[in-house]
Amino acid sequence: MTETTGGPGFVTERGSFRAAHVANQNVERQAFVLDQMAARPAVRTLKAWALDQLAPAPGETAVDVGSGTGEDVLAFTAYGARAIGVEPSPGLRAEAVRRAAGAPVEYVEGQAEALPFEDASVDVLRSERVLQHVDHPAVAVAEMARVLRPGGRIALIDTDWGTAIIHPADPDVLQRMFGYFRGETANPYSGRRLRGLLAEAGLEITGETAATWIEPQEGATTGFVGMMHTTAARAGVITDAEAEAFTQTLRDTAERGAFHMSLTMYAVSARKP
Ligand SMILES: C[S@@+](CC[C@H](N)C(=O)[O-])C[C@H]1O[C@@H](n2cnc3c(N)ncnc32)[C@H](O)[C@@H]1O
Repeated sequence: MTETTGGPGFVTERGSFRAAHVANQNVERQAFVLDQMAARPAVRTLKAWALDQLAPAPGETAVDVGSGTGEDVLAFTAYGARAIGVEPSPGLRAEAVRRAAGAPVEYVEGQAEALPFEDASVDVLRSERVLQHVDHPAVAVAEMARVLRPGGRIALIDTDWGTAIIHPADPDVLQRMFGYFRGETANPYSGRRLRGLLAEAGLEITGETAATWIEPQEGATTGFVGMMHTTAARAGVITDAEAEAFTQTLRDTAERGAFHMSLTMYAVSARKP
């Protein structure tokens, strides 16, 4: 397990995605997890929707805040935009540079709450699954609005952990586990807040959509669901016996093809008046 400092955050073998924890990350593991997430149909759908809404023009400055391994920065280059990723993790920036393989992209150190750009200097901005890791999302979105030029476009994508369903499971055990994970997440209900954050930053909403990630049967024993009982038991919110019953139930259910896990993600686009 990776030990973390600097506030709550998912404490797992990959470390946390919070900016305060960049020194304690397992970058290889994080890149693996991000690749797995990026392959989900719901994530593909929302990434494509956001790009469509943003429609970068050749020569425009297009920024991805919290750019991770850089896939969405590279996508901007296909439009001939000046593509920039802002990313606090040195390890993920290095991985993004490696994956860019010489493509015309820039990766800069920075955080959503203090973007390294002049006022009104950015044409297009996106940020995906980042605000859930941010303590003060209103500060971050106001900062995004500051750097956008009048007429500039923005798209935000995020998960809402209040929409997570796992079936079958003991409701009381599940509630304690979800309660623990939500408590460890800076902004667990980020998805439902996106529209309000953009509107309150003075931006005009231009579109909104959602996509639900439905986990395949093998997800009952792998990935987030496969490790959540161990993490919750280690944190003391469920007993070892409850953890064992939880994972055994899911394993048996998946063998019958009857496991269900889903999580809804939201995307909202806006323009600066
Ligand atoms: C779940 S990952 C998503 C990465 C990428 N946006 C994607 O769609 O694959 C969250 C990213 O946000 C970054 N991050 C965390 N806190 C941040 C902050 N305060 N400002 C900017 N990025 C942040 C993390 O380092 C990580 O790259």
